[in-house]
Amino acid sequence: MLREQDKPVGVFDSGLGGLTVVKELTKILPHENLVYLGDTARVPYGPRGVETIKRFSEENTRFLIGENVKAVVIACNTSSAVAADFLKSTFPKIPIFEVISSASNEASRGTRSIGVIGTYGTVGSHAYAKNISKNLSRTKVIEKACPLFVPFIEEGEIGSKALKLVAKGYLSELKKQKVGTLIMGCTHYPIIKNIISETMGKGVTLINPGKSVAKEVFDFLKKNNLLNRQKKKGTADFYVTDLTDRFTKVAEMFLGKKIKNDLKIARLTK
Ligand code: DGL
Repeated sequence: MLREQDKPVGVFDSGLGGLTVVKELTKILPHENLVYLGDTARVPYGPRGVETIKRFSEENTRFLIGENVKAVVIACNTSSAVAADFLKSTFPKIPIFEVISSASNEASRGTRSIGVIGTYGTVGSHAYAKNISKNLSRTKVIEKACPLFVPFIEEGEIGSKALKLVAKGYLSELKKQKVGTLIMGCTHYPIIKNIISETMGKGVTLINPGKSVAKEVFDFLKKNNLLNRQKKKGTADFYVTDLTDRFTKVAEMFLGKKIKNDLKIARLTK
């Protein structure tokens, strides 16, 4: 039987964008084994209703628990925003991490007004604004849904004129309101952080929730003596709920490196 510390860390997302979070996890936790589940058959979650996102997230978590993980990381901002509390109460025995509170805490260290960009689901939930107001009750939080960013990025259109125009339109109000810190509240956005940063102008601090949650997971594993002590680099198993020829390429864009093992099909149980 595996010792608790030797078990893998589970990560799920609505699709492949959550690999930006895996990228951050492997930087700070290079010796952890990871199991990733991307719900590619049902992506995107962003425009869906709360009950549907909760149900999908529950099935994803159940799959990861079936893979014998020691903790679950919700990489998806939309799932984190609407389903994290529900998952924590449904699966009380497993530590569950989500990106919203981690990134909100980091953004709250500044004193300037804070902008949040994300999917309709994330922005509509006001989860970031609620979390930030726990730390900073008087700080102005301006939220803006940027639904076109995800399809642009998935198509690999990450430096096009069209994307720059879309970014200008989406970010104009945040710029006008002079936000000092901007949370990139969607798994995909770190891929276009240069465009976001150029559009917002100098001096705006960008927060990558993947980085914030990776730090929180590291602190938790260390504090609870759950870090994997193996000397070699950790392994990574990548599961998806639907598989097409394009996926490996898209996955590698988000992960920022080649994927050694093939993507595997996951069968989710209800
Ligand atoms: N993973 C989602 C998020 O971070 C973006 C893609 C989707 O809408 O499912 O909110």
